[in-house]
Amino acid sequence: MSLSASKIRKTALRGRLLSFDADPSQSAKAARFIEDGVLVFEDGIITEIGEAADILKRLDLDVPVIDHRPYLIMPGFIDPHLHMPQTQVIGSYGAELMDWLHSYTFPEESRYSDPELCGSSSVFLIEELLRCGTTTAAVYCTSHPASVDAFFAEADRRGMRMIAGKVMMDRNAPEALLDTPERGYEESKALIERWHGKGRLSYAITPRFAPTSSEAQLLATGVLAAEHPDMHIQTHLSENHGEIAFVRELFPWSKDYTEVYERHGLVRDRALFGHCIHLTERERTSLADNGASAIFCPTSNLFLGSGLFDLAGMKMAGIKVGLATDIGGGTSYSMLTTAMEAYKVLALRRQTLKAYDAFHMMTAGNAAALGLEDRIGRLAPGYEADVVVLDGHATVALRQRMERVQTLAEELFVLMTMGDDRVVAATYVAGKRVHDRQAFTHRPMEDRPEFQLRAADLPAESLAETGDQ
Ligand code: GUN
Ligand code: ZN
Repeated sequence: MSLSASKIRKTALRGRLLSFDADPSQSAKAARFIEDGVLVFEDGIITEIGEAADILKRLDLDVPVIDHRPYLIMPGFIDPHLHMPQTQVIGSYGAELMDWLHSYTFPEESRYSDPELCGSSSVFLIEELLRCGTTTAAVYCTSHPASVDAFFAEADRRGMRMIAGKVMMDRNAPEALLDTPERGYEESKALIERWHGKGRLSYAITPRFAPTSSEAQLLATGVLAAEHPDMHIQTHLSENHGEIAFVRELFPWSKDYTEVYERHGLVRDRALFGHCIHLTERERTSLADNGASAIFCPTSNLFLGSGLFDLAGMKMAGIKVGLATDIGGGTSYSMLTTAMEAYKVLALRRQTLKAYDAFHMMTAGNAAALGLEDRIGRLAPGYEADVVVLDGHATVALRQRMERVQTLAEELFVLMTMGDDRVVAATYVAGKRVHDRQAFTHRPMEDRPEFQLRAADLPAESLAETGDQ
């Protein structure tokens, strides 16, 4: 199908279909696999899934059937934690969290007072995610509202389901990045009005983490959260020992890190806490009882030497867990690579991650961690048609390895061990093919119109607002 064929309302994909109806660690029948299957969608929504032999004989002759056999067709991957302005600090050498933030990340984020950089980085990030098969993400922008405008404008232009927010931070960082409790609140509110619910976009209330927010800012954040009880909240929690000690100093009244957020009503359903590595029993119980999600970011946790996430313990405590890249503390955009690093982290804890569990986490599991389990993450009628097509023979090394594979579980495990963006043959967003590996060329960014800042896509207010930042 060429991109222009996206005008055709009803389309079918044929291939090896894999989706999860439940958590495979809880139910032996969770995985739904159809060796020769067809997925039909219309106006961006899946209408039918089943055996090719059944569906093809009923399908109207004018419905195009795109034949992806022998590739795997799965729900698009979901990345529940990453930072849009950190694409140019990935792989910054030799620091733990607090040094890394001050040496590399904050200086880099300070550059995002430039709306042109906000635009080009947003385009880059979205293109890179699609090349990796990721169709939804929960994204931190910077404290500059224009960074959110640029990111949402680009995601909306492509019809993507995206969650993002302006980072609120009013202390312990360079002046250029600081807002105030009032500005953080007002700017977030204006962005919510502009973007929340537009197309497939949702706003996330985004206090960066306790060390960079004053008590007054956390109070204002709590007010915003109470005004929007169904909205996502995203922040960081208990990633690094130095960070935890700093929180103890800054909030002496609090018995632990989690209580700082709890006091302001920020621990609740749809609250996404990045990292959660060093939680006490009490903190785990609080996350579980309040319906919050813990987001496991293995490449980041290894790269910054933060620690080893306790997946079994979190699940035992009844906490919803997501798996994420955490670009740019994290080192790969690929959810497949991220799953493999999760496996290695868990191996060091004498825990494990079976292939079905990993692929469930990347899709339906992450959808549940985001509270979006009724819309994305599955190939089922009524779900949004975000799809990834995976070629398990994409490299010479994969072809060699796959010769010994006998079961689907083995095939999936090899895919996550050796796969990355190269195995993503195509990505569909709301039924439109938005990435096609064969069509992808390595033309320089300047030659590609999609990498140019589209000032026309940004609301006039956002351009004005950047003037005094
Ligand atoms: N804690 C506060 N900000 C950040 C960030 O940008 N990355 C990571 N990994 N942790 C954080
Ligand atoms: Zn993060």
